[in-house]
Amino acid sequence: MNKLSLSIALLTLWFSASLLADSYQRQSPPRTLTAEQAQRAAANYQKYCSLCHGKDREGHANDHAPSLRSKSLMESGIPHGILRPLNYGREGTAMAGYLDEVGGPLTLDEAWDLTYWLFWESGFDRIKLSEDKVEGKIQAGEKIYQQHCASCHGENGEGITAPALGNQSFLAHNKDEFIRYAIEQGRQGTPMQAYGELLSADGIDNVTAFIRSKASGWVQQKMPLRPIPTPDQYVQNPDNDNPRWQLKDGQFIDSEQLYSAMQAKNKMVILDTRVPSVWQRAHIEGSIPFPYYSNLADKVKDLPKDAQIVAYCSCPRAASVYLVDQLNNMGFENTAVLYEGIFGWMNKGFPVTRSE
Ligand code: HEC
Ligand code: HEC
Repeated sequence: MNKLSLSIALLTLWFSASLLADSYQRQSPPRTLTAEQAQRAAANYQKYCSLCHGKDREGHANDHAPSLRSKSLMESGIPHGILRPLNYGREGTAMAGYLDEVGGPLTLDEAWDLTYWLFWESGFDRIKLSEDKVEGKIQAGEKIYQQHCASCHGENGEGITAPALGNQSFLAHNKDEFIRYAIEQGRQGTPMQAYGELLSADGIDNVTAFIRSKASGWVQQKMPLRPIPTPDQYVQNPDNDNPRWQLKDGQFIDSEQLYSAMQAKNKMVILDTRVPSVWQRAHIEGSIPFPYYSNLADKVKDLPKDAQIVAYCSCPRAASVYLVDQLNNMGFENTAVLYEGIFGWMNKGFPVTRSE
């Protein structure tokens, strides 16, 4: 190799290395939406999300669903801190997966648009956080956690009035620095205060490391989707009697009442008002996916007026009450809501049908 080609080779090497370093540092430009895409995203937000996250993205309308307009979330969570929970949900919480691939109503394109619509509506800028692991002392972090965080997030990270931080989907979907940033900055306009003002930087590292230590390697699995029941399969035991229930507050039954009606083979339609992706994972036997955002004008013709209708969700009843109220307004009288929702049902040890 002569001197000239050697220096050209070195120059090329240096040039491509600096390009690589550069693209690692810089963020890809945020996705822009056409007026039409933004309009569709806004409509999708109202249809699918506002029930829990609030009409104006303020959060905490139902189930302590977080704000989707806080500065720290929008700065640090675009796209994946939003897109992943939106697509795949947070297992074991009221947040279901909305992507069609897991049985939800949105295409991947619509999910991207909704993610960036939330970003543009918020008006904040993105920041790039380090991808590095946060190093900290787990035991010291646990002390801080139990003292400062457990009252809202739960002793075991199960979530009480705040998101479940021990949740496997939450931990699998988010990087350490995303979690650390939320702790340091808080979530503006919500009960989550900025702990950067209360704890030392080491303290925040330690509690982040403690939360991370609860991850056990959750992976998103591909699962075969079950066929959705057709209207002729809605009514269970059509030749038998409806259950005779004493409704609490004119609307509610508990798991024991539902279970004994199932055992007695009463005539019933059980509506699962959650997103169908979570029905795919586990549901009460014989239930029909009938999500809270169903176009009722179109779908009520599939529901019988004479059979007992029971609705449930995991919220534990926000979505089911929302749907049953509408059915009542449309003249359906034999309705009931499972008060404790499917998690309450499962906690009491009643059976569910799971995906293969
Ligand atoms: C007063 C109740 C309360 C306390 C105490 C509290 N949090 Fe929170 N936290 C919340 C709420 C509510 C949210 C959701 C806020 C929102 O976005 O609407 C939240 C959100 C978070 C998030 C973001 C979760 C996500 O899904 O993105 C993290 C991480 C977090 N808290 C960690 C902590 C840690 C660590 C502590 C203790 C040092 C703590 N929190 C103390 C109420 C609390
Ligand atoms: C039935 C109530 C419900 C509905 C409807 C719902 N969510 Fe959620 N969502 C939740 C709850 C509850 C959580 C927090 C779960 C946890 O981690 O404990 C959550 C968490 C999230 C998070 C994580 C936020 C954070 O702070 O990290 C995002 C993003 C999100 N939801 C987006 C959406 C979008 C977009 C829609 C509409 C397509 C939607 N959700 C519909 C209940 C709901």
